[in-house]
Amino acid sequence: MKVLLLGHRGMLAQDVLPALAAAGFTVIGRGRPEVDLTCAASIRQVLADVQPALLLNAAAYTAVDQAEAEPDVAMAVNREGAAHLAAACHEVDIPLLHISTDYVFDGLASRPYREADQTAPLGVYGRSKWAGEQAIRAQHAAHVIVRTSWLYGQHGRNFVKTILRLAREREVLRVIDDQQGCPTWSRDLAQALVRLCHRLQQGRDQFPWGTYHWCGAGSTSWYGLARAIIEEARTFETLRVQNILPIPTTDYPLPAQRPRYSVLDCTKLQEVGGLTPRPWRASLHDCLQELYTCPPTSPVTS
Ligand SMILES: NC(=O)c1ccc[n+]([C@@H]2O[C@H](COP(=O)([O-])OP(=O)(O)OC[C@H]3O[C@@H](n4cnc5c(N)ncnc54)[C@H](OP(=O)(O)O)[C@@H]3O)[C@@H](O)[C@H]2O)c1
Repeated sequence: MKVLLLGHRGMLAQDVLPALAAAGFTVIGRGRPEVDLTCAASIRQVLADVQPALLLNAAAYTAVDQAEAEPDVAMAVNREGAAHLAAACHEVDIPLLHISTDYVFDGLASRPYREADQTAPLGVYGRSKWAGEQAIRAQHAAHVIVRTSWLYGQHGRNFVKTILRLAREREVLRVIDDQQGCPTWSRDLAQALVRLCHRLQQGRDQFPWGTYHWCGAGSTSWYGLARAIIEEARTFETLRVQNILPIPTTDYPLPAQRPRYSVLDCTKLQEVGGLTPRPWRASLHDCLQELYTCPPTSPVTS
């Protein structure tokens, strides 16, 4: 089965591509400048050139804070881009597998969010991703939208790599402790996407199209995650950091408001895909093991 992977230089996509290839899929990765989500013609062209059986979109505008200053750009990529993808996939009659975010929720829930729960994004990024989801639902029935959260991995900029850098540079780290979420290793999400691709390969007729949640099992705060990162890292190197202090969000104001609680309930995908999310702490351990023993190109930089 031939899969076209868009946004192939992104953090998630760089784990998805080898995972799909290892599972026997033919994966063609494409991205800018050849394929720009804001340009419908470039999407149609790549579909005509590659002729995939499935489009997996890992491309998105992901600069959460910058989005507040340039909402038009975020909307052009995440809303209009998703609409272009859905229309193009509909034209050539192939399924669209798309990634979305926990930031579609406002974080006021008191139990993990289910797929059908009311969305109420707090910022431009979340609104743009939600609008993209809606565009896909409206235009192309053969879609799977997988919402995930707090992604980190070997590639790209992410919280884990930033904390490692700061822990080498500073004696004291202050980290937000009143936002709760589910850290997700991009490698684990990649495996879940591979499983979905396998299901799609078995046939479209009985496929349960729709929206799913997938993230690491269990939850923590950014502070809890930072502590765990540093604890793991100390088995590999001596760090400068001496104190990690929990702070409220109000002590670290950022342009975009984040949900205080964005724990995702992954039961639906567990039932449909026969998958079990890995505890976030075990995945973090494995990710750091890999970062230290086989770093991407330069060692653990953000
Ligand atoms: N990171 C997280 O914590 C997180 C959490 C929840 C959900 N998600 C979702 O997970 C998905 C993957 O995220 P990620 O962290 O892997 O993202 P990422 O590392 O920022 O990669 C995004 C990719 O999208 C590409 N892109 C941006 N604008 C584009 C455009 N107009 N046309 C074509 N490609 C474009 C970028 O291309 P260039 O290389 O050319 O810049 C980049 O390769 C996204 O849908 C994101 O919303 C992420």
